[in-house]
Amino acid sequence: MAKQLQKLELTWIGKGNEPKLEPRILIEDTTKSFGDPKSENMLIHGDNLLALKALEQDYTGKIKCIYIDPPYNTGNAFEHYDDGIEHSLWLSLMKPRLEILKTLLSDNGSIWISIDDDESHYLKVVCDEVFGRQNFIANVIWEKKFSPQNDAKWLSDSHDHILVYAKRKEIWRPYLLPRTEAMDDRYKNPDKDKRGLWTSSDLTVKTYAAANDYPIKLPSGRIVNPTKPRCWSVNEMKFQQLVLDNRIWFGDKGDNMPRLKRFLTEVQEGSVSKTIWYRTEVGDNQEAKREVKTFNEESVFGTPKPERLIERVLFLATKEKDLVLDSFLGSSTLAAVAHKMNRKWIGIELGEQANTHCLPRLKQVVAGTDKGGITEAVNWQGGGGFKFYTLAPSLIQIDKYGGEIINPQYNANMLAAAMAKQEGFRYQPSESSYFKQGFSSEKDFIFTTTQFVTIQMLDRLAEELQANESLLVCCKSFAKGCTTRHSNITVKKIPQMLLGRCEFGKDDYSLNIVNMPHEESSLNYDENDEMNTMIDDAENMIKSKNSKNKKARDQNTQDSSQSELF
Ligand SMILES: C[S@@+](CC[C@H](N)C(=O)[O-])C[C@H]1O[C@@H](n2cnc3c(N)ncnc32)[C@H](O)[C@@H]1O
Repeated sequence: MAKQLQKLELTWIGKGNEPKLEPRILIEDTTKSFGDPKSENMLIHGDNLLALKALEQDYTGKIKCIYIDPPYNTGNAFEHYDDGIEHSLWLSLMKPRLEILKTLLSDNGSIWISIDDDESHYLKVVCDEVFGRQNFIANVIWEKKFSPQNDAKWLSDSHDHILVYAKRKEIWRPYLLPRTEAMDDRYKNPDKDKRGLWTSSDLTVKTYAAANDYPIKLPSGRIVNPTKPRCWSVNEMKFQQLVLDNRIWFGDKGDNMPRLKRFLTEVQEGSVSKTIWYRTEVGDNQEAKREVKTFNEESVFGTPKPERLIERVLFLATKEKDLVLDSFLGSSTLAAVAHKMNRKWIGIELGEQANTHCLPRLKQVVAGTDKGGITEAVNWQGGGGFKFYTLAPSLIQIDKYGGEIINPQYNANMLAAAMAKQEGFRYQPSESSYFKQGFSSEKDFIFTTTQFVTIQMLDRLAEELQANESLLVCCKSFAKGCTTRHSNITVKKIPQMLLGRCEFGKDDYSLNIVNMPHEESSLNYDENDEMNTMIDDAENMIKSKNSKNKKARDQNTQDSSQSELF
């Protein structure tokens, strides 16, 4: 008998097989960092699943606004293969990332996700599952194109969606949008009221109350009643007070239905955002292309968003100094806009565009030489800086005999930082005590060494520890008797202590189809053949990508003498 499903949820091939991620350290490449060396802004080049995992320890609950613009899965990646597989891959790619993004959001934070019709409805259901349906705020419609596509086979698609969720809807409120000139233009002063410009609004409401249904005598002498089934918005006594205060407008000749005067000085500072965002207000695809062309004319980034669109998101979701994150950074629109709006930012990009597009753009923003996008509107003059990071390689490698070893690319500092991260300690080597490399509380420390640990060494450490302090020693090997020698010192062996905790040695989570489970029973023989070919192709592709990554990592490790660990 079929298993009874217990809850409403979307399922797909591979759901539930989420990877156990290795918490990597991040390595600063000081040759690419730019501007203020104290800047907390981070540009991370690498796969966002591993990068988000790397950020988890320090940034859980700290991000005020996340904006992401993931690849839309428009059906081009595997056009000859089964559609369901393609959707499953895309959903498998998104869900674990959304889960970490949620943990990074602060309680009063929100996430904004750009998406088009191909996946938006599936994504909504997955987001309901991850963020909670009760935290759904809106599905914003962004008019991304102006001209109709007359060659469209069906309908000419002119909008994208932006799905908005709060971490906790009950406490999250958007900020108001700044008032526009067009909004203020509606305010006039035909009766020369000394309180200044005003506009008028309807004095009737839909919700009927008998106390608010009474006749009104206009200055012209004509008697009027609210149009049925409506009534006035105030009772008779309040109406008389408003008349005495000259807050009711009966028209130039005193013969119009009464309207309530609203003074510009009394309206709220800004306006509430609507859920349809027109290209005239926030830009469109063409505007975005023009913006990014300035930074790399030879290879114009294909799918940028306009700066005004991101500015709108950041206006609604953040204030100055708040921390924002984009884990599908692309050409770095979010980072550029956040920087110009004085927000702190973290951007993650897997592709080479981290170097070819993000770096030049962000350097120009910092230098104040980027004159495009929202620069003039927010009066950006330059300043600040950012640090460039890559992900460290996996901590554990398999040697030629099939045994697990510490990756030889790790130097002593990297190993100490990695072990601190693995064990949940903050890596911060003490200046006064060589063995206090990190702490989990004021009294609990970690020490990682590649030396053989002897009883004498442990005794010396014990002497230096205060009575109520404890220490975790991580080492490659230790003498017999070390584990029970001191009650406040725990000794563990690397890599054995780490095995089985997470997936080591895996660098690419961007196209996770090699190990993708598939329901064999639902595939016939030919389809299985096709699937195997596809998996072989993907494996080859990933092997070649990994070997390129390895070369890049080797280079990184050579450079790591001038690098800082994160
Ligand atoms: C649609 S673009 C984002 C465009 C961006 N909003 C802008 O304005 O330029 C999506 C980006 O996500 C990046 N990406 C895809 N998979 C990724 C992954 N696993 N980790 C990090 N970045 C990834 C792609 O390389 C691409 O640059």
